Amino acid sequence: MSSVARAPGRVNLIGDHTDYTGGLVFPMAIDRDTTITFSRSSDVTLTSGNFNGEVRFSLPMRDAASVRPEWGRYVAGVAAAMLERSMPVSGFTGHVATEVPIGGGLSSSAALEVAAALAFGIEADAATIAAVCRRAEHLATDVPCGIMDQLTSVAGVKDHALLIDCHSLDVTPIRIPESLAVWVVEISTRTLDGSEYPTRVAQCATAEREVGPLRLADVHSVSAISDATIRARARHVVTENERVREFAAALQVGDAREAGRLMYASHRSLSADFETSTTTMDAAVETYSRLPGVHGVRMTGGGFGGCIVVLADDDAHVEGMRVRAADGASLDTPLS
Ligand code: GLA
Repeated sequence: MSSVARAPGRVNLIGDHTDYTGGLVFPMAIDRDTTITFSRSSDVTLTSGNFNGEVRFSLPMRDAASVRPEWGRYVAGVAAAMLERSMPVSGFTGHVATEVPIGGGLSSSAALEVAAALAFGIEADAATIAAVCRRAEHLATDVPCGIMDQLTSVAGVKDHALLIDCHSLDVTPIRIPESLAVWVVEISTRTLDGSEYPTRVAQCATAEREVGPLRLADVHSVSAISDATIRARARHVVTENERVREFAAALQVGDAREAGRLMYASHRSLSADFETSTTTMDAAVETYSRLPGVHGVRMTGGGFGGCIVVLADDDAHVEGMRVRAADGASLDTPLS
C-alpha cells in the first residue's frame, strides 16, 4: 500500500530578499502541489512524470550535490540534512509528480524538498522541517537561500497569507479578503543556481558588518554605509521590511489600493536598489498595472527571471495563472 507526501509551492505577495537577514516576508502556499507516492524500502528509488531520468541512491546519504539526474540532489539533500541532525531516515521507492511550474519562481524545489522530508519519515515541528529542507537546498546546490519557501510549504493555511518573522520564525496567518484574487504570470524559467543570488546574500552580510542586523536597522542608519551598492542593497531590505508590516495591516482592513501601492514600491526597490528584476519583468509589471481591476503588481521570489504576482479584484481577468492560498504539506498513510 502506498503513502502520499504532498507539499505545495508558494507565491510571495511582498517581502523579497529579506528572509536571509531575519526580516519579514508575506507569502502564501498555493493550490499547486508536488506529490511523492511511495512505499518503504531500504534505499531510495524515485521516478518522475515531470523530471527526466530515475534517481537512485543508498542511505545514509552524505554527498547530495553529486546525485544525478540533477533534480535528485534536492531529495538527497534532505536525507543528508536529516542525517546531520541525527534524525532517522527511512528509504522509499516512489514516484514524484508536480503541478508547480519548474524553475518559475514558485518554489518547485522547496515543494520537492518538503515532500521528500515527509517521505523520509521526518517527525518535527514546522520550523524544524523547514530548517532541514533549507539546509538540503544548501547541500544540494550551494545556493544560500533563506527559510521562506520551505516554511511556507510546510505551514501554509487555506485562504490566508502568512506574515513570517524570519528571525523568530513566528508565523501569523492573515486572511486574504474574498474580494481579492492573486494571479501569477510566468515571465521566464530560471534557477537561482548560477544566478547572482549568493552575491546579494554576501552584500547584505557586508552591510550588517557595518551597521549591525538589517532587521533592526532603519533608513537613517543604513544611509551611513560608505559603499553605494551596499548602501542600496541595505536600503531595499529595511524599506521592504517596513512595507511588509504596512501591507499586512492594509490587507487586514481590506485596503486593496494601499496594498497595491506597496507592491509597486516593492518592485521599484527590488529593481533599482536590489537589482534582481529584469527589463522584461519591469515591462510586464508596467503592462499588467494598466489592466482594469488590478491593484498591485511586482516581481516575486528570488528574481533574475521567474514570475510576477498580481493582486486584483476577484472578478478581474488577468492573463496568467490564478492561485488560491492553500494548506501546507501533509502525509497520507494507509491504515495498516
Ligand atoms: C528565493 C529563496 C528565498 C528568498 C527569495 C527572495 O526564493 O529561496 O529564501 O530569499 O528567493 O525573497
